[in-house]
Amino acid sequence: MMAPDPPKTRGILLAGGRGTRLYPMTTVVGKHVQPIYDKPMIYYSLTTLLLAGVREVLIISSPEDLPHIRGLLGDGEAWGVELSYAQQDAPRGIAEALVIGESFIGDGRVLLMLGDNIIYGGLDFLRRAVAEPTDGATIFAYQVKDPTAYGVVEFDEAGRAISLEEKPAQPRSTWAVVGIYLYGPDCARRAKALAPSGRGELEITDLNRTYLDDGRLNVRRLGRGVAWFDTGTPENLLEASNFVRAIETRQGLVIGSPEEAAYHAGFCSLEQFEANVAAMPRSAYRDYLERVLSDRKAALRARH
Ligand code: DAU
Repeated sequence: MMAPDPPKTRGILLAGGRGTRLYPMTTVVGKHVQPIYDKPMIYYSLTTLLLAGVREVLIISSPEDLPHIRGLLGDGEAWGVELSYAQQDAPRGIAEALVIGESFIGDGRVLLMLGDNIIYGGLDFLRRAVAEPTDGATIFAYQVKDPTAYGVVEFDEAGRAISLEEKPAQPRSTWAVVGIYLYGPDCARRAKALAPSGRGELEITDLNRTYLDDGRLNVRRLGRGVAWFDTGTPENLLEASNFVRAIETRQGLVIGSPEEAAYHAGFCSLEQFEANVAAMPRSAYRDYLERVLSDRKAALRARH
């Protein structure tokens, strides 16, 4: 007997907030369109969602930043994806994204990604999680030297998650919670039932704790083969830029290209991909995608 298909998974990309930790860089344009080496920050998280197999993405941002992000990414049609937009009037917490996206999520599942997170390396862990037919929550933990700036998950000796805390002064483990979360259809209802925290936000950690308490939280630990950055401060912005530059220079491969990811995920044809590249101004970015195209065409010719 064949296993049932997993429910449809849509994506929410949360790219609002005030970006105050990047002041004065964020006075005129928001954090998510700032460069990480050679591309706007939001390219990386969008690419991750596409590579996870998600074709419909709701992008949520602040009233000030939403027009810039929409201007940058458009409706996604040329990439074979569906991008839609919604406004978060004030930064009232990450979990509020699920409330804003309630009708978009519908009766499917949602992969919620923070626009300031960069995940690089084998993304099989993500595709596997999406392929599992769970309707609880799946979150990912990553070992860091200083977990005090993150959600922190503690495990028992059998490897089961036993506690979750947001930015603890005395962390119970070195496992930080990564800014990408997979939820079943009841996540918006659960998010609405949360009480705002002391800082007035619907905390994603509080939401995840409701799943933990109900025995419906899967926590997957990411190994060393994955690189994870959050780019909220000038230091992390530079670290992430240096990382991207090192990989791109060494390998000649580009990290975080939604055009390439949409093609690889099978969302657009080779012809459409070629037309997208042809419409770009001359740049190193276009040169790279032209190389991807010609390699692909050579591989197809060799097969015939
Ligand atoms: O990066 C992973 C961490 O992200 C997790 O380990 C934490 O548990 C989680 O709370 C979050 O912590 P941060 O301190 O990094 O969250 P921050 O306020 O920087 O927001 C993360 C992103 O979400 C950022 O790109 C801005 C956006 N955001 C945030 C809030 C609170 C919004 O668009 N609206 C909001 O209301």
